[in-house]
This record gives sequence, structure tokens and C-alpha cells, in this order.
Amino acid sequence: MINSSGIPAVVPAGRLADRDQPVLPLPGGLELRPWRLDDADADALHTAGQDPAISRWNLFTVAGRDEARARIERLHARRRAETGAIWAVAPTGGAAVGLAGLNDVDLAGGTAEVVYWVLPEGRGRGIAVAATRRLSGWALDELGLHRLVLCHSTANPASCRVAEKAGYTAEGTHRSALLHADGWHDQHVHARVAGDPA
Ligand SMILES: CC(C)(COP(=O)(O)OP(=O)(O)OC[C@H]1O[C@@H](n2cnc3c(N)ncnc32)[C@H](O)[C@@H]1OP(=O)(O)O)[C@@H](O)C(=O)NCCC(=O)NCCS
Repeated sequence: MINSSGIPAVVPAGRLADRDQPVLPLPGGLELRPWRLDDADADALHTAGQDPAISRWNLFTVAGRDEARARIERLHARRRAETGAIWAVAPTGGAAVGLAGLNDVDLAGGTAEVVYWVLPEGRGRGIAVAATRRLSGWALDELGLHRLVLCHSTANPASCRVAEKAGYTAEGTHRSALLHADGWHDQHVHARVAGDPA
């Protein structure tokens, strides 16, 4: 496919939607796998949406199991539309303990934004770093994207550390770029591009 400037698409349309979302193994008996519409995953997403840090930094709340299920259905719809690819982080055979994935996927332009969160009981064990590294490798090397961006409020140093440890180079600060409940936050922009060391 060629865009209006005559430049070929970086990733052809269909490469995300036409294949099953892969299961990507992580260290420590964990894996990245598609979100399930079962009670356990719906409850994990509901719990995340009630967690003060996740709702603050990832800017979402989830009122209950039904709303969580509707969100999971939207995640799958976004992958079919090739605008997102979001995984649950979970022990093999178990319920989700976190989320990691790609938002704002632009296959033709070769870009996406990386997002993540980990439930409080899972934090501090390297889960976010391992999940971000793994999905970034998949997105660049297997899906074929060129550039992944990772943005966080400058008031969230834990996310900054995840970005650094997952191989995302700090590129600068966007001033007053994120609207949170307490007002506008500056945001750090990190990125990993094809060919960067993992
Ligand atoms: C940020 C978050 C995803 C990190 O998940 P995690 O699995 O605990 O992260 P990891 O264990 O892989 O690594 C976290 C790193 O940040 C560091 N860190 C944690 N809190 C920190 C803080 N307040 N200041 C600086 N570094 C911090 C940890 O020490 C660790 O680095 P180290 O391995 O060098 O010691 C998790 O805390 C979370 O979900 N927070 C709430 C939501 C959120 O911030 N989402 C991201 C939005 S951009």
C-alpha cells in the first residue's frame, strides 16, 4: 500500500488484524496474553480501575465487572481495527496482574505508543520492565513498526525508570501536555526505534 505522498506503508494493513494475538513468554512464569472476557480478568481490570495510582497515571476508572468486560471487548475491537494491541500480564493459567501494550498504532506510518500498569501486589518485581521489553521487541522485530514512543508525567519517576530500563531513550519534555485531576503536567517523551539496542 502507498500513501498519498507515494511512500510505501511501513507495515502493510492487515498484519495486526489478520493474525491471532500472540502469547509472549516472560521470565518468572509470566506471559503476555490476550485479555479474556472471564470473571478473573474482568475483576483484575476492575481492581486496576479502582487503584489510586493506576487511575491517576493511566487516567481511567472502572466502576464494576460489567464495565470491565466492555473495556476488554473494546481492546479486542481496537486490535481488529489495527489501532491497538494490548496484552494482559499474567502468570501462565492465571488472572491478569498487569497490562502492557500499544496504543495509537499507525501501521502505515510505523509508529505506536507503549502503555502499561501493574497491580500493587505485583510492583517492584521487574514486571513492567520485562513486559515492555518483550512487547517492544515483538512490535519492532516481528510486527515491523519503526518507532515506539513512551510518555509519562514528569511527576511519575517509577514510569521514567521503567522506560530507561526497557531501552527507551529520553528525548525531551513536552510542557503542560497531560491534563490530570490536579491540573496540567509536563510529560517526558522516551522512544525506541528499530535498530536501537534492547
Ligand atoms: C510504574 C509501574 C508500571 C512500574 O511497574 P513495576 O512492575 O513495579 O516496575 P519494575 O519493577 O519493572 O521497575 C520499576 C523501577 O522503578 C523504580 N521505582 C519505583 N518507584 C520509584 C520512584 N518513586 N522513584 C524512582 N524509581 C522508582 C524501581 O526501583 C524499579 O527500578 P530498579 O529495578 O532500578 O530498582 C507501576 O508502579 C504502576 O503500575 N504504577 C501505577 C500506574 C503507572 O504509573 N502507570 C504508568 C503510566 S505512564
